[in-house]
Amino acid sequence: QACGDVGLGRMPEPEELAQQVTEYFHKAQRTIAEKFGMLAGKQVTITAGPTREAIDPVRYISNHSTGKMGFALAAACYAAGANVTLIAGPVSLDTPNGVKRKNVSSAVQMLNESMQMLEQGCDIFIATAAVADYRVAQVAEHKIKKAGDELNVALVKNPDIVATIAQQEKRPFMVGFAAETRNIEEYAAGKLVAKKLDMIACNDVSRADIGFASDENAMTVFFAEHYHLDKRDLDKASKQEIAQQLVEAIHTALHHNPAVEEDF
Ligand code: C5P
Repeated sequence: QACGDVGLGRMPEPEELAQQVTEYFHKAQRTIAEKFGMLAGKQVTITAGPTREAIDPVRYISNHSTGKMGFALAAACYAAGANVTLIAGPVSLDTPNGVKRKNVSSAVQMLNESMQMLEQGCDIFIATAAVADYRVAQVAEHKIKKAGDELNVALVKNPDIVATIAQQEKRPFMVGFAAETRNIEEYAAGKLVAKKLDMIACNDVSRADIGFASDENAMTVFFAEHYHLDKRDLDKASKQEIAQQLVEAIHTALHHNPAVEEDF
C-alpha cells in the first residue's frame, strides 16, 4: 500500500462486492422514495394470483392466473415509497424486494387477511387476484372415490373481496381489475359502480398477446365519476411498465381534488 502497509490482499470476492454495491444503491433509492416517491408513506395492500377452492383433501377448483400483474404492482408501489403487503394465492413467483407477503389458498382466507390489513391501517387496496367465484359447499373430509358416470359437486358463492373492503366505513382508495372478452368498457364501468371502486383497470383477455400468463399487458383505466378524470389508455407494454403507469394513475387520483377546480 502507498501508506507503507504490507501484507496479503484482502479484497472480497467480486460477486460479494457487486452485491454490496447493488444493496447500497437499493437502500439509497428506497430512502429517497420514502420521502419523495409518488406513494411515499402509503400503506398498500395487494391481492394477487388465483385462489384454490378445495373439493377434497387432494383436489381443488382454481384458474390460470399467474399473479404477475399483482407482483409487478407490488414492486412498483414499493419503488414509489409505499409499504406494501401482498396477499398471494398459490403462485410460483419470488416476493419483490422489500415487500411483505402473506400466502393464502382460498377466497375466504384471502378475505380474512385483507380485513386484517384494513384493521392495521391501509390507504390503498389493489385487487388483482383472480378470485374463484364459487367454492365447494361441503369439502369432503376424505378423497372422493370414483363411482358412477356422473359426479355432482354443489358450489356456493364466494365473498367478493374488493366489494367487501369497499363497503367498510374506513375504506382505503380502492383499485379493481376487470378481465373481459367483450364489451370491455361497458362491463368495467359497471363494475366500478357496483363494487364502489375509485379506479378500475380493464383488459381484453381474448387477446392472446396480453393478459393472464403473458408478460405484456394493455389496459384502460377508469376513475369513479366524482374524480372528474378522463379514462386513460395504457398502451401495450411489459407488466412492469403497466404497473408503473398504474401507480401514476393512482397518484393522479389521490392528488386530484375536483372540488378545488370547481371553485374556479
Ligand atoms: O367481478 P369480477 O371477478 O370480474 O371482478 C374483478 C375484480 O374484483 C378484480 O379486481 C378482482 O380481484 C376482484 N374480485 C374480488 N373478489 C371476488 C371476485 C373478484 O376481490 N370474489
